[in-house]
Amino acid sequence: MATIRLRDVRKAFGLGSKPRREKAGSGSRRRAFTPYAREEPAAEDPDRVYALDRVDLTVPEGQTMAVLGPSGCGKSTLLRVIAGLEGEYSGDLFYDDRNMQDVPPKDRYIGMVFQNYALYPHFEGHGNLSFFFRIRKAPDKEIEERIRITSEIMGIGFRALLQRKPGTLSGGQQQRLAIARAIVRRPQVFLFDEPLSNLDAKLRAQTRVEIKRLLRRFAITALYVTHDQTEAMALGDQVAVMRAGQIEQVGPFTDVRLRPANTFVAGFLGAPPMNLLPGAEVRDGQIALSDGLQIRPDPSLLKNLQPGHALTVGIRPESVQVTVRASRDARNPRGAPPSVADGDAQPVNLNDAALQSPLTNVWPGIVESVEPDYGRRRALVYIQAGGQRLVGQADIRARLTQGERIVAQLEPTGLHFFESQTGARIE
Ligand SMILES: Nc1ncnc2c1ncn2[C@@H]1O[C@H](COP(=O)(O)OP(=O)(O)O)[C@@H](O)[C@H]1O
Ligand SMILES: [Mg+2]
Repeated sequence: MATIRLRDVRKAFGLGSKPRREKAGSGSRRRAFTPYAREEPAAEDPDRVYALDRVDLTVPEGQTMAVLGPSGCGKSTLLRVIAGLEGEYSGDLFYDDRNMQDVPPKDRYIGMVFQNYALYPHFEGHGNLSFFFRIRKAPDKEIEERIRITSEIMGIGFRALLQRKPGTLSGGQQQRLAIARAIVRRPQVFLFDEPLSNLDAKLRAQTRVEIKRLLRRFAITALYVTHDQTEAMALGDQVAVMRAGQIEQVGPFTDVRLRPANTFVAGFLGAPPMNLLPGAEVRDGQIALSDGLQIRPDPSLLKNLQPGHALTVGIRPESVQVTVRASRDARNPRGAPPSVADGDAQPVNLNDAALQSPLTNVWPGIVESVEPDYGRRRALVYIQAGGQRLVGQADIRARLTQGERIVAQLEPTGLHFFESQTGARIE
């Protein structure tokens, strides 16, 4: 076990080179190890793409860092640098206080699990688990003992997989075998590269729980790479959000969600993510948006906002309450008066006159579409208010319909503000 630290790590690829595919059995075994040539961070070179661009990251001993970001942002490259599978890069990588520059992959004690399982197809499960030890000429007794313990840890039904070749196993079974193969080596670091992406939704949830159990049990330092925020939230003690080779924010998932550092992070987390409303400006102690829409933020926030400052306003769907207009009664084409059972018991009591400007935190609008979410007893409601499009939520019993006139109430405590130009959070 070790604390892993990356300091100012940069890794560039020439634009002509092709991304590599993980093959079964690729990795330390076949690649001749050469100590890395040190690269000076090149001045911006238009012919190179920085898969990692000045990455600083610390994964404390025994913790799991979820690395979350869109496809192509450099997640796999980050893992490969840590595993020692990437050639030239600049910056430093430490396991505890040891600089790993000259340490070959096989001496790093890594357990790696890939999206495509990367099992040896011609070996049965047993052979996949024991291969690592055989090439190190470990005694049979020790190998069998390790496999026995690992099978116990993996739990019910695992033993049966040892007699079968990967080609005869389902995706979920193959991934269990791949996880076991990482565990049997007693690694000091676990690296997971989108291990659940090829599984169907139900199996993904099951395997996620299983991986969580194993991570808790071993308390081995781990990096878990994914583009799926549910996985990141479930498995990471902390999450590092990546974009285009850079780490945008690191912290416990809750912190990152509550206080996203910039518009990228804000717009990446959440399903659906935070509404980001551009074109706002501070005017007379209020935030003015297009078409007379206004927002009154918490006074403590307002003092950090300069008049005339160009802003993007962020608000999560959960903080936008959508209700029918009080006048629905008269216009309700179904003719039925709202009832408690319909969730219409307390429509916002505003008539059209009261909705005239200033429309501070309470905006009239119309419904563009509705997506019921029965599990949470709410509906996501996509609305248009003034010139803005946003998503809010309504009580599922309100049965809003497309084109219906509504009001959206924005909770002042749910507001976030970002600089228009840089996207950086203001607080
Ligand atoms: N061997 C390679 N040669 C050239 N470009 C590569 C190679 N590996 C990765 N890249 C590029 O580096 C960037 C990051 O890739 P990767 O780390 O695989 O992203 P992710 O795992 O987040 O999808 C991408 O633009 C990708 O095309
Ligand atoms: Mg990848």
